[in-house]
Amino acid sequence: MNVTPYSAGCGALVSGIQLATLSDNEMTSLRDAFAEHGLLFFRDQDLPPVEHLRFAERFGSIVINKFFKATSDSSKIAEVRKEKTQQTNIGGGWHTDHSYDEIPAMGSILVARILPKTGGDTEFANLAAAYDALPPAMKKQIANLRAVHSNEHLYGENGVYRHTDLAEQLGGMDRVGDATHPVVIKHPESGRNVLYVNPGHTIQFEGWDFAESRVLLDELYAHVNQPQFTCSFNWLPGSVTFWDNRCTWHQAKNDYQGEARLMHRITLAGTALAAA
Ligand code: SIN
Repeated sequence: MNVTPYSAGCGALVSGIQLATLSDNEMTSLRDAFAEHGLLFFRDQDLPPVEHLRFAERFGSIVINKFFKATSDSSKIAEVRKEKTQQTNIGGGWHTDHSYDEIPAMGSILVARILPKTGGDTEFANLAAAYDALPPAMKKQIANLRAVHSNEHLYGENGVYRHTDLAEQLGGMDRVGDATHPVVIKHPESGRNVLYVNPGHTIQFEGWDFAESRVLLDELYAHVNQPQFTCSFNWLPGSVTFWDNRCTWHQAKNDYQGEARLMHRITLAGTALAAA
């Protein structure tokens, strides 16, 4: 198994293995690579839904997304679907999966099923590297803050998605909610300090009002969204991506209007997050 950096500050490309037939030793090496990089890319995988599920279950326990439709293969595999007639895509802005849960998701495993001829990349950001590079004064300012993460503004009755052409394929309007987490967490496996706020779900700092929160959040987001912490993954048939939701952001580019894109996502359960 070979693990090589994907870009200077973001992700790693894993080659020389098939996720469907990993030996126990390969699984151990893969766990180490996942803890180190938090974002792994794979090419040329033969991973039909049953093997996608088997690999996910070998790695951890699965948590079901409250809002996305499941595939006909399994209630544990969520569809991230955009039909050729749809304008809006799922996950088109920077976010971290399930940060609105009390116990946020550990990771997500995304498999390409239908791809547009060009475009439809997924972009990622490395939140451990971004935290390390914050100015000391900013680290001090955010050290003891907690932030509220919600999904209501996206998936609730009046949420952004309900007014788009995605509305029909989303459920769970009555299952919206929020959770509060430390702004700087200690990553449960790597032990690194990580900035844990994201543009999709973080709505304010605990004890601050929305306007005050917005100013500092925007400053943090601008810091993360720089080339040295981000990368873009170009999907090909057989591509798989496995990211750690505790130390990355991602967003799906919506630059392929008139074509369909279908991805299968399995989300793995995490543990409660502790402050750094
Ligand atoms: C997601 O936000 O989980 C989907 C990302 C993608 O479709 O590229």
